[in-house]
Parts: sequence; structure tokens; C-alpha cells
Amino acid sequence: MTEYIFSDRIAGLKPSAVREILKSTSDPNVVSLAAGNPAPEAFPKEELKTIATKIFNEEPITALQYGITEGYAPLIELLKEYLKKRYNMGTENDELIITSGATQIMDLLTKVLCNEGDVVACENPSFIGSLNCFRSYNCKLLGIDIEEDGINVEQFEEKIKDCKVKFLYTIPNFQNPSGVTLSVEKRQKVYELAKKYDFLVLEDNPYGDLRVEGEDLPTIKSLDTEGRVIYAGTFSKLIAPGIRVGYVLAPKALISKMTVGKQTEDVHTPMFNQLLVYHFMKDYDIDEHINKMSQIYKKKRDLMLSLIDAHLGDKVTYVKPEGGMFVWCKLCNDIDMLTFCKEAVNRKVAVVPGTAFLTDENEKTNYIRLNFSTPTDDDMKKGIKILGDIANGR
Ligand SMILES: Cc1ncc(COP(=O)(O)O)c(C=O)c1O
Repeated sequence: MTEYIFSDRIAGLKPSAVREILKSTSDPNVVSLAAGNPAPEAFPKEELKTIATKIFNEEPITALQYGITEGYAPLIELLKEYLKKRYNMGTENDELIITSGATQIMDLLTKVLCNEGDVVACENPSFIGSLNCFRSYNCKLLGIDIEEDGINVEQFEEKIKDCKVKFLYTIPNFQNPSGVTLSVEKRQKVYELAKKYDFLVLEDNPYGDLRVEGEDLPTIKSLDTEGRVIYAGTFSKLIAPGIRVGYVLAPKALISKMTVGKQTEDVHTPMFNQLLVYHFMKDYDIDEHINKMSQIYKKKRDLMLSLIDAHLGDKVTYVKPEGGMFVWCKLCNDIDMLTFCKEAVNRKVAVVPGTAFLTDENEKTNYIRLNFSTPTDDDMKKGIKILGDIANGR
């Protein structure tokens, strides 16, 4: 048989631990606390059905024909207005394009900015999809520890004093996997550091709409006066991940290069899906939808926290997430994390081992990530009870 010699870019990427764990979740008897999917009951199914019919009745050719790479112009305009009103961001110097999810933004930005060996600073732990994207361009990852209020800015400054960073990748709200939110003071400090040490900031905000308590904080992009911040948005959590619609707001010069990059990836994001998003934003009350989602997610988060407290109370510690989808649990020292995760799979409960999210996967950690958005209440009760049994040696 033919032996395939893979590119340097892909050869170093290992199958992820998450994927291995998720394989077990295709078994219907496995309770999965490992996924990162939105709550099925939060999808606006009826609204999308109405919109889909309207699109095929009124503008089928727009939905089915090629579009321009930048995206459906009315959606772009609507989003610019929305972001200005909601977060006060977007200047004369910025432009916005539609992308195929936020995932494509990480890819496009790295593609247009990074050469092999360039350094991308990342929260440690961070979203594995983005870490693998940076790795696939042979970037070096500079991991910065996370505290209760976001990245450790003192450690960050220490590390970048003698290391030139291309950009910082940050998930400021209800971070994946840690659930923590970057404080206002640290948002300002991160931006000051970006100016002082001359790097860019990729602000990835997929979970901002999933706040269940507390107040929205200003985005780092809204502080940007020098064209240093790239804001990645997505409809994966607000509407549905299957439609693959995201958007990036960034300085014009970067956007025009990213547009060229996108042309060779997928020409444009599917027009039908862009029209779905456009009409949803235009015809429905987004605030009301966000409120509805918030109630669903609050119930789920509260249930998970109460179950953790009841069954794993003295075996784990965690920072209470104010939104998002995850609880990042630190197992106590007498539990070996990987043995715990394997035993959970044996007992048909899937959780994600913390190592999967580290910038250096060989580093040791005693964390696991638990997801509360996807499982039903009954599965959550069953799953956490089993985790409690394992932790308590039963
Ligand atoms: C931090 C973060 N960024 C981006 C994504 C991917 O978003 P999208 O579906 O828009 O590609 C995820 C998905 O879980 C995520 O957790």
C-alpha cells in the first residue's frame, strides 16, 4: 500500500484526547459530560422554520446563488450596527466580514499573520480547537496561567519581556474550559500590554451571550484605539452551531487579507445560512431570545453546581462560572486525574481530562472539564452521582 508522507504542518498534530473520549459518547448508554454543544432546547427551531420558508418563497436565488466572499451585505451592515449598539465597538478603521464559524477566524488570522515559529500567547488552559489551529501553522504556543479573574497579567508581562509575541489569543467571557471571566481591570491591562510590547489581541467571544448572572463587561475591542484587536463572533451559541455562521470585526488592512485567505478556503459562507441569521436578527427580538437562553442555561448551571457540591463536595474545587457551558473542576491531590477519567468511561460517563486543553499537553494537571449545557437533567444527575462514587472509592 502507498505510504503517505504528511506535511510538517499536520504531522505533529496528535489525535486529541477529547476526540478519543468523545468516541465513547456515540454509545447511547454513555452519559456525556464531555461535549461543548449548546442546549438542544435553546435552539429557535420554530423561528428558523418560518424564516426558511420565507427565504424559499421570497428570495430563493439569493439563497442558492454564489455570493461575495465578504458575506451578505445586509447582514454585515446589521451586525456592525448591532455591535456598535451593544458593545460600542467598531471604528472608521474597522471592517467586518462573515465567516464559517469562529473557527475559520482563528485559521484566517493565523494564516495571514504567522510564519513558522511565530509565537502565539494563549491562556493555559484554552480551547483545544484554537490551540490545534495555531499548532497546524507551526506556531509556538506561549501558555499563560489563568486565575479566578482571567489570565495572570504579571506572569504574562514577565514572559513577553524577552519573547516577541505575534498575538494573544483570549476568550474573555466564561472561558473554555475554565469558565472564568476576564475582569475589567485585566481587560485594560491586556490592552496596555499589547501597546507596550506591540502585539495584537484575538478576542474570541463565543459565550458572551450565555451570561446567567452579573453584568456584561466591556469588550477588549471596545478599548481599541490603535487597530490592535481582532474580535471573533459566532452564531454557534446564539442560534445554532450547525449553520456555521460567524463574523470578524477587525482593522481594514487585516480584513482585506483575511478575505483573500477565505476565498481559497470556501469562497463564502453558505448564503442560505447567512440569510437565516439575517432574518432572525431582523425579524425577532434578540434580547428576548438571549433572556430565554439565559433562563435555560441558569437552570442547567445551578443543577450541575448543586450536584457537584452534593456528590463531589470535598473532592473537587472550582470557580463558579457566571455563564457559558463548563465547570472546570480540580480534583483533590489523592485522585489521579487520568485514572479517574478512564474509570468514568468504564462506568459509562464521559468527562474531558484537563490535559487536553493545555498549551503543553505533557504538562501535569488534576483538572477535568464538565459540560452542563448538553446533558438532560436526568443524565446530569446520573453522571455526577457516578463521578462521586468513583471519587469516594465506591
Ligand atoms: C472558545 C471557542 N471558540 C470558538 C469555538 C468554535 O466556534 P464556531 O462553532 O463558531 O466555529 C468554540 C466552540 O466550542 C469555542 O469554545
